This record gives sequence, structure tokens and C-alpha cells, in this order.
Amino acid sequence: MMARAIEWLDGKLRILDQSKLPREQIFADLDNYHDVVLAIKEMRIRGAPAIGVTAAYGIALGASGIKTASKDKFLAQLNQVMQAFAASRPTAVNLFQAINRMKKAARGDGVAEIKNSLVNEAKRIHQEEVTATKQLSQLGAELIKDGFTVLTHCNAGPLATAGYGTALGVIKAAKEQGKKVGVFVTETRPLLQGARLTTWELRQEGIPVTLITDFMAGYFMKRGEIDCVIVGADRIAANGYTANKIGTYTLAVLANAHGIPFYVAAPTTTIDLSLTSGYQIPIEERSPEEVTHIQGVAIAPEGIDVANPAFDITPSQYITAIITEKGLIKGPYTEGLNREQ
Ligand code: MRU
Repeated sequence: MMARAIEWLDGKLRILDQSKLPREQIFADLDNYHDVVLAIKEMRIRGAPAIGVTAAYGIALGASGIKTASKDKFLAQLNQVMQAFAASRPTAVNLFQAINRMKKAARGDGVAEIKNSLVNEAKRIHQEEVTATKQLSQLGAELIKDGFTVLTHCNAGPLATAGYGTALGVIKAAKEQGKKVGVFVTETRPLLQGARLTTWELRQEGIPVTLITDFMAGYFMKRGEIDCVIVGADRIAANGYTANKIGTYTLAVLANAHGIPFYVAAPTTTIDLSLTSGYQIPIEERSPEEVTHIQGVAIAPEGIDVANPAFDITPSQYITAIITEKGLIKGPYTEGLNREQ
């Protein structure tokens, strides 16, 4: 059985350390919220839905560590805990949706009751992600024909969702429907989520996988070896423009140029209707070392200037459909296309 990405165990949060995979399977038991915030920042746990679920449990953990019987003081300290999570990673909206739900759940007559309510809400958020990712996967699997080869980017499997997976969930569900499916996985520089995590998950599922470097995608599309592209999402704006791992935009443009369907699979918790345009989505800029080093080894001259945006925006004109647990969303969306605004 696949190791669980996140587990709530006797008031502690157990995470599978994704930064060590696939070489080592190491679980970390986190018993205070500071460590949970750090695990999200350092991407030991990552992927939009999983970040939301982890933050919810982390807030419950933070609440349990607050030692006051005064409800006002408790709520003030709880607010600080929530702020620490809100500052952990900026792009995945699931994080902020989870924090808002935990804020609303912080109700009760006394501190003990509120603490209890927060644990229950975190468990609910987790369970809802499991259900939503399973449902969207089954819906999305209808788009996959027997014998398809799917290209995916980054990692959008159970590790990234604390559930069934989104892009990989669709592929898994197609296999469960009895279809023969093969997968091309881009390595996903700089942190290699495709090479390290997606290949690891697909292999455990017994799904044939071919690893390629990011810039081989066009070559295989041109040769007619890719039937569709499916990726996850970190935030989808009201106009359908989608933030996902850096390189997604490039793949979408390539798929469009080759007439290949390009699908985004995401639970509705990834949709942010408060943003009219995807270009309003905050893009996380991460440390230069992620680009100048691979797994601790320097590959570039010291002190070189580096840019490291962790995500990019794919305009909706390149997205054939967004697969959610409530059904497929197809354009035309609300805004003008392909314009920075
Ligand atoms: O930086 P990461 O590894 O958290 O980025 C993950 C992605 O971009 C995933 O594609 C996205 O979160 C969807 S996960 C179902």
C-alpha cells in the first residue's frame, strides 16, 4: 500500500518527508505548529491540496499548544498561528481556503471546546479532499481512451493531495476502468517533483512511465507520441487562467501548437473566484540555490544571478477543460485572452 502523505495520529501530525523521496522513506512526527510551517516552506510536504490539509492540522496543533483558559487570549494567539501559516507559501489558494475554514470553526463556549472543534474541522477538510479528488479522477478518466499516452508535469498524485491525486488520480482511475494508459513525466526542474515523486507513485501503481527532461516534451509531441496533457493546479482565477508549476505554460503552448488536448485537474478548493484574472495570482519566488544546485551539488558559478519563480500562469485559451469534482469546466471564460492585466 502507498505510504500516506499526511496522518493525524494521537494529536500529532505525521508527514512523509517528500524532500527525501525516492531515496529514503522518512516519516516526521510534528508536535508543534512551527515545525509544520517549516515543513510547508521547505516543501517536505507540498502540492496545493496537501498544503491546505497540512495547514488545517497544523492550526489544530497550534491551538492545542496554547496554554490559557481565557478565550480572548486564546483567540489572539490562534490568530498568530494562522498568520504564520498564511505566510508559508503564497500561490496555492487551498492554503488560504483552509485557514478561512479554520477561522470559522474557532467557535465554542470555552477554549477546550474550540480546540476540539478545530481538530474536527481539520479532519473534515482532509476527508473532503479525499472525496473530491476521487470524484474528479473518475470524471476525468472518461476523457482518457484505451491506449492513451498522457504527459504530466510536476507531481499531482496522492503525495500532493493527501487524497487520491488530481492529474495522477485521473490516470489511475482510467487504469481502474480497465484502460491501458502510459505516462510521460517531465523531470520538473528545479526541484524534480516529476523525476522523484511522480515516477515513484506511478511505478507503485503499476502504470508504465517514461521520464523525460522538461524540454523533450515538444519532440515527443511532434512525433505524435502524446495523446493528451494533464496537470494539476495551485490556483485557478475566475477567468480560468491557471497557476501551476513553472513550465506548465510552456507545455500548454506546445500542446496547442500540436493540437493536443490540455487538461487541468483540480478540486474546486483550488478555484479562487475573488481574482478576476490569473495574472493577479501571487507567484512564489524561491531561493536561488534551488537553481544553482541539484540535491546539494553546485552546477553553476558561485554568485551568478538567478530567477526562480515556482509557478507560471496558463491562459484559458490553452486549456481544453478543467476537471473538477463537480464536472468539467470549459471556456469561453470571462476575460479577454492572453493579455497581461
Ligand atoms: O511547488 P509544489 O511542488 O508544491 O507545486 C506543486 C504543483 O505545482 C502541483 O501541480 C499542484 O500543486 C497541484 S497538486 C495536485
